Amino acid sequence: MNEQKATNVVWHEHLVKKEDREKLLNQKGVVLWFTGLSACGKSTVANEVAFQLHKQGKLTYVLDGDNIRHGLNKNLGFSPGDRGENIRRISEVANLFADSGVVATTAFISPYRKDRDFCRSLVGDGKFVEIFVKASIDTCEARDPKGLYKKAKSGEIKEFTGISAPYEEPLKPEIVLDSDKLGIEEEVKVVIDYLKEKKII
Ligand code: ADX
Repeated sequence: MNEQKATNVVWHEHLVKKEDREKLLNQKGVVLWFTGLSACGKSTVANEVAFQLHKQGKLTYVLDGDNIRHGLNKNLGFSPGDRGENIRRISEVANLFADSGVVATTAFISPYRKDRDFCRSLVGDGKFVEIFVKASIDTCEARDPKGLYKKAKSGEIKEFTGISAPYEEPLKPEIVLDSDKLGIEEEVKVVIDYLKEKKII
């Protein structure tokens, strides 16, 4: 689904550049890419980080798996190919947000390394922060807020990540949040401290 089909299209440089927008906003445009199993807590942390940054006067936007699958990606399922396309489109969207100067936080399982690496190469090192929200399958199953693990185990849901579909852990994420041990406030602090240390905010 990723081949260039359109011909006779020419790339335009725009008058207002990323740096100009960043100067206006007094912040850097970045993608904070949260990845992990369903119910690991990635949406909660992505939301809370955005909320804390917002309170500090930073412009943020949350892109969230379940929401995006109601609109932009409603025609995609959970096969490896559809998940790849899901992440490819989100990567392009997140990259546009970062280019606009926004701190974009994304919360997608994004189980395949190659899909996450695509986003890293698109956004560029330094502007792409991979955050692995690490929770054991037992923890996620015990939480199971949407009852999906139960359905996956009974076979009602096929290709469910962690049960009947793989999750490839990040090899070199910028941040690992141990969700089995840390509370939400501690996790948010780890992320915000990292952003400060790297002078992203
Ligand atoms: S991803 O693998 O393509 O990155 P994404 O984050 O968009 O997944 O969507 C995951 C959400 O879809 C889960 O939180 C869950 O609510 C729902 N879901 C439904 N079916 C599945 C499935 N087979 N595997 C994983 N999640 C599923």
